[in-house]
Amino acid sequence: MKLKAASDLKQNGAVRVIFIEDKSIQELKCGIKNKNHGGIPVDALSYFNGDINEVALIPGRQNILLCGMGDASKLNPESIRNCGASVTAAAMDKKMNELAVVIPEIKNFTREQTLRYISEGMALANYRFDRYKTSDTKGEKPVEKIVFISSSKNAQSIIHRTEIITRNTFLCRDMINDTSDSINPVSFAESAAAISKKSGLKCTVLNREKIESKKMGLLLAVNRGSLIEPRVVKIEYRGDVENPKVIGVIGKGITFDSGGMNLKPSGSMETMRSDMSGAATVLCVMKSLAELKVKRNVTAVIPLTENMLSGNAYRPGDIYRSYKGLTVEIGNTDAEGRLILADAIAYMEKEVGPELIVDMATLTGACVVTFGETVAAYLSTDDKLASVIESASSDTGEKLWRLPFFEDYEDRMKSEIADLSNMSSEKNAGTIAGAVFLKKFVGKTPWLHLDIAGTAWYSKARGYRPKNATGYGLRLLLNMIENWK
Ligand code: BES
Ligand code: MG
Ligand code: ZN
Repeated sequence: MKLKAASDLKQNGAVRVIFIEDKSIQELKCGIKNKNHGGIPVDALSYFNGDINEVALIPGRQNILLCGMGDASKLNPESIRNCGASVTAAAMDKKMNELAVVIPEIKNFTREQTLRYISEGMALANYRFDRYKTSDTKGEKPVEKIVFISSSKNAQSIIHRTEIITRNTFLCRDMINDTSDSINPVSFAESAAAISKKSGLKCTVLNREKIESKKMGLLLAVNRGSLIEPRVVKIEYRGDVENPKVIGVIGKGITFDSGGMNLKPSGSMETMRSDMSGAATVLCVMKSLAELKVKRNVTAVIPLTENMLSGNAYRPGDIYRSYKGLTVEIGNTDAEGRLILADAIAYMEKEVGPELIVDMATLTGACVVTFGETVAAYLSTDDKLASVIESASSDTGEKLWRLPFFEDYEDRMKSEIADLSNMSSEKNAGTIAGAVFLKKFVGKTPWLHLDIAGTAWYSKARGYRPKNATGYGLRLLLNMIENWK
């Protein structure tokens, strides 16, 4: 898909897109003309109310796609993005190749904001995962070119940013949607190295031997049941060389979560190729930082393994020694994410020494039970970090809610025979339990844990986020890094 900014309407062959509030439709129907809506034949509007996300095609010398915005004074950034998504869905459905979008003036928003939200919504919705469809079954194709007509003088740079964010969100979705047979720890690490090289990022891959010599015992324990080697990918971006401070980001990279000996039942395992969503998101954030030349220093650590079962798989009741030195009793082999993250966090703190650590993980089913698919959970040891992620969230529309680290929860991760257990002694508050386990592996570094179990993968499309991999968290983490001071 190509995105472009232009200042005039000379787009031959493109379908013109016009956003319109319901009030203006009434005026048009009464014969009151508004210069922005010139060219719309009033009689074509008889069934169109201008309700939010209502789309109509008006055929003519130049075809017009009309998109209602409802009561424009009630719009917010997310609802504007989703108006954009409605247009893209209609355009894909009607097999339109090229759109020329007239950016409307919306009260309470600057022209720049409106352009940003509409371009993001339209572009992020223009996605299909059809890698495995042979030609006759491919179905709808994404729109090829979208030109945004705006008088804003920053239009070029806004569209440039939307383009980078969209391309990387699509890469992230593709990696998550792709099969575990194709994206395994070894191939993920190879892709990460290739992407890093192309983007000018420094990438180091730790293979099994290196992971053994570093004594990452928890990652190795989870890997035991798998025929494929584990990997740890470290990616370094230095956008502010005079500044010694580094931000540390970690993504859970379980390329398939069968549950291990505590095997998942049918119905719970089918989508577990998405258990590397945190890893893919972190990789794509690093790529975005480099392409946007963000003035920050960031190091990513991505632990990668499958969680499989075999004669050599790790067992409930086993005890393993972590990179940090703490011993862990395995209460449940399906609580594997916290194990690989524990080693990654301790490694990050010791060998990178960042000023803060953010980890992103599809960690608990309990998170989906609590918040559903549209809201992520986070816990943090640092209120400043929490406030920066909150404002990033309101800017990007990637919703989240904070859960507490009350002392009441500390006891539940105790083990009788090891330093701690990976399984809570109580069934409830599962998302907090996972985070409480992780916290034992964090030293003094301010830390934030984001559980994206619900938001990374949708059971149905919603607005500009498609069914299956959503790419949730890429814009959020990017925005957070840009705004951290
Ligand atoms: N990857 C899963 C969590 C998950 C569940 C992600 C549903 C996305 C959708 C994780 O490894 C897991 O299996 N967690 C267990 C933990 C439990 C055994 C303590 C869970 O949530 O059931
Ligand atoms: Mg699991
Ligand atoms: Zn998992």
